Amino acid sequence: MVKNNKSVGLSGDFEILIGHCKACAIRLTTAEVPEIAKKHAILKRVRDRLFIQDLSSKSGTFLDGRQLPKKTWEEIVQKAEGRNEIKLGKTSIGIDAQLFRGRPRAGIETTALYYKVSDKLICNGAYIRATPGTMTAIMGPAGCGKSTLLDLVNGYRTPTTGQVFVIREQQKINVHHDYGKVREWLGYLPQDDVMIPELTVRQSLNYCLRLQFMGLAAQIRERIIHQTCRNLGFDKERLNKFLNTVIGSSESGIRGLSGGERKRANLAHELIAMPLILFLDEPTSGLSSVDADKIVRLLQSVTRLDDLTTMATIHQPSRDTYERFDNLLLMSHGGKIAYYGPSQEATRYFEQVTGTSSVGRNPAEYLLEILDNYNYNEKLIEYFKQGSLKHQFHLIMPMAFFSP
Ligand SMILES: Nc1ncnc2c1ncn2[C@@H]1O[C@H](COP(=O)(O)OP(=O)(O)OP(=O)(O)O)[C@@H](O)[C@H]1O
Ligand SMILES: [Mg+2]
Repeated sequence: MVKNNKSVGLSGDFEILIGHCKACAIRLTTAEVPEIAKKHAILKRVRDRLFIQDLSSKSGTFLDGRQLPKKTWEEIVQKAEGRNEIKLGKTSIGIDAQLFRGRPRAGIETTALYYKVSDKLICNGAYIRATPGTMTAIMGPAGCGKSTLLDLVNGYRTPTTGQVFVIREQQKINVHHDYGKVREWLGYLPQDDVMIPELTVRQSLNYCLRLQFMGLAAQIRERIIHQTCRNLGFDKERLNKFLNTVIGSSESGIRGLSGGERKRANLAHELIAMPLILFLDEPTSGLSSVDADKIVRLLQSVTRLDDLTTMATIHQPSRDTYERFDNLLLMSHGGKIAYYGPSQEATRYFEQVTGTSSVGRNPAEYLLEILDNYNYNEKLIEYFKQGSLKHQFHLIMPMAFFSP
């Protein structure tokens, strides 16, 4: 970012002093920045969040044209386009986009997974290959094993046979053997949420932050909560109302959030911890197609902006929602894969395999109907296994498909 800086660019958290005295890690001379104070400001990074605080300097610290209040932490929120501008007095210093990347990104790769419960195979050769910046939809009929597959991949259940790896830089970390190493990077939104109904959204998010980030000042926690909820589509007026609402639940008899708000509150709990890999089990169930699409659009934007690896099970998405996913993993009964590849190519693939037409159809409906109404199941799975169409369709093939 600026010269004399020894710490910036390292991965991990830091807290560095900017000024012209010797104690500063970013030491600037008055020739470089005429109005620089001895200790002008502090720059701090926690996971991928950057904060700045003005240390009561005479000439002030400015963020994107606005003077910062003294001795108050402000989050530097990365712009989707262009760069943030920080000024010490009248002099601009650059903020490198890479400063917002406190940690290398992570993907997921598994071998073919098998999971048996009392001799019944619930996962039968399904697998995942997902890279940062992509969204994968997992679809399939009710009870086919979607939630089970997510549980196997996120470390909640252990496959009877097969391995799950987090891929990060050159490393391949086995999720089940080294769960402690990867836990912080994994976010999981379960099918049924587990929020405490008596708390307000603000209280609940605050507890969550205190557990995830020890020693963060209350002021910073409040800023993170605001930022996360703004990213989830709550503007100024609605934000405070949302944060002050009691979560509630039908079981507890406490009236609280609406269905759509509840989903977003739930998602806020996951995003606030800044996962690198995000698993979501039916993040849109029970929502109208408009609200469902809003949620998926939000997921798409955080996935792109933060380079997350996102995977979600989803029921009956609209065409718009379906098309927001990069890849589709279509599961068939008994935990088998019928298709795994680019979501855009799925309908064409099945048209070719079955000789049917998807013209004018909702893609998700068409695909599930193929799995349900036709007696194609075994044939489709066999086609896919053999990769018979893989030269025309870039299907995602596993590392060891046939390993039992
Ligand atoms: N611990 C278990 N013991 C016995 N059967 C189980 C267990 N866990 C899952 N199953 C069975 O495995 C199958 C797959 O369940 P899973 O919850 O993964 O399906 P799903 O695709 O997520 O379904 P839905 O669309 O309804 O959420 C079901 O038949 C379920 O009853
Ligand atoms: Mg499920």
